Amino acid sequence: MSSEEITLAEPLVELKDVRKIYPSGGGELEVLSNISLTINQGELVAITGESGCGKSTLLNLIGGLDKPSEGEVTSCGYAVSSLSEKALTDYRNQSLGFVFQFHFLLKDFNTLENVMMPALMAGEKKHSAADRAAELLKRVGLSERETHFPSQLSGGERQRVALARSLMNDPLLILADEPTGNLDERNSRLVEEVLFELTEEFQKTLLLVTHDAALAKKGRRRLHLTQGGVQEL
Ligand SMILES: Nc1ncnc2c1ncn2[C@@H]1O[C@H](COP(=O)(O)OP(=O)(O)OP(=O)(O)O)[C@@H](O)[C@H]1O
Ligand SMILES: [Mg+2]
Repeated sequence: MSSEEITLAEPLVELKDVRKIYPSGGGELEVLSNISLTINQGELVAITGESGCGKSTLLNLIGGLDKPSEGEVTSCGYAVSSLSEKALTDYRNQSLGFVFQFHFLLKDFNTLENVMMPALMAGEKKHSAADRAAELLKRVGLSERETHFPSQLSGGERQRVALARSLMNDPLLILADEPTGNLDERNSRLVEEVLFELTEEFQKTLLLVTHDAALAKKGRRRLHLTQGGVQEL
């Protein structure tokens, strides 16, 4: 690691003694117990763990989609676990890019428009948003699909569009929850390739949840989540 990289290593995400308890059939289900974790700017982190161990819950807490029962989550300079709804919306729109197992593309908009959407919502002019969206689509290998609608794309293509969209607002942090979960081997590798290439080139921080062992291996840092906590692999 060069000295330049060392000076860049600032904490971007911090979890302190985080617990998450869900109500469950009159009782309680403790999913995360006392999780403390620091992720530095620029880290590419893969998170694995058995189904139901709380991986999506963890990403949702970091993404401000849910609140911890106890403890604190800070991310990108925001005290995520204690923000108002309005501040949470700002945090999500400005600092985060989401890629999920399901693409969540808008079915009535074409590929280019879907990628442009976060920038238009943030007030960017249509022309400049279209130019940047076209550039990102080029980078994920989908220039030829700009006018296709989501229903006219393959699963792997939809995930690459979702990735381009997640980068549109130049977020600090990309949260990816099983982005290759529904794809066959060939498409998984295509999505994986652009995911790592672009997050690295644009110097993003990536938190990637995956069951896919080959994908997890590409993480520069690997974490395994269990009932007992988080382990470094
Ligand atoms: N809103 C909720 N209310 C109650 N229980 C929930 C809720 N969301 C998740 N759970 C439970 O919490 C546990 C963790 O769920 P989570 O979705 O975080 O697991 P996961 O590790 O992402 O699993 P998978 O690999 O299958 O996606 C599960 O047992 C689940 O049933
Ligand atoms: Mg999950």
